[in-house]
Amino acid sequence: MVKLMIVVGSVRPVRVGLPVAEWVRDVAAADERFEVDFCDLKELDLPFMDEPKHPRFHDYSLPHTFAWSERVAGTDAFIFISPEYNYSYSPALKNAIDYLFVEWHRKPVAFVAYGGASSGSRGVAAMRPVMAATGMVAAMAGIELTFVGQHVADGVFTPTDAHTAALVNVLAELAILGPELATMRAKLYG
Ligand SMILES: Cc1cc2nc3c(=O)[nH]c(=O)nc-3n(C[C@H](O)[C@H](O)[C@H](O)COP(=O)(O)O)c2cc1C
Repeated sequence: MVKLMIVVGSVRPVRVGLPVAEWVRDVAAADERFEVDFCDLKELDLPFMDEPKHPRFHDYSLPHTFAWSERVAGTDAFIFISPEYNYSYSPALKNAIDYLFVEWHRKPVAFVAYGGASSGSRGVAAMRPVMAATGMVAAMAGIELTFVGQHVADGVFTPTDAHTAALVNVLAELAILGPELATMRAKLYG
């Protein structure tokens, strides 16, 4: 099974990101190819990155960093669920990414982005260079949700057929990339 972390990028008290993430989680959890770790950054509650050394040294000093490092190191694939804020992506997600380095290397990630008029596409564009810096491998498949609030009622996201089809493609790609890149990492890092 592919160990899949679903990361909820928005940490606002009232957020559309949670129902969207719960939809993704429920579909992935029912899929026998995946073992799902649901990571709500609001619950994780990392401070602003407060390690004295660059993460590339892997010389951490704080309990929250050790815990986050272990959790990410034990993951084979990721789905980052992020709102678009001011033409970019969630600052909480950027903060969580910045804490670590080698833990992200050569691991696949798919984006579920959402926003108002933009559908989160500019947020995804802003994430791509960050993925390059971390050595993550972005899946081609992804989901962008325009006017996402229109699909949420009473705290539940109701996907269209197109959303459902897009999630099928995301999971199909991660189910392949997860093991393939794990093999690559084993060859590279032993
Ligand atoms: C500070 C802020 C900035 C935003 N900027 C954008 C934007 O640039 N493009 C866009 O399409 N939507 C933008 N929105 C709308 C959000 O994407 C939308 O409200 C979404 O529901 C926020 O996700 P969340 O509820 O999970 O936090 C912005 C919302 C906020 C609060």
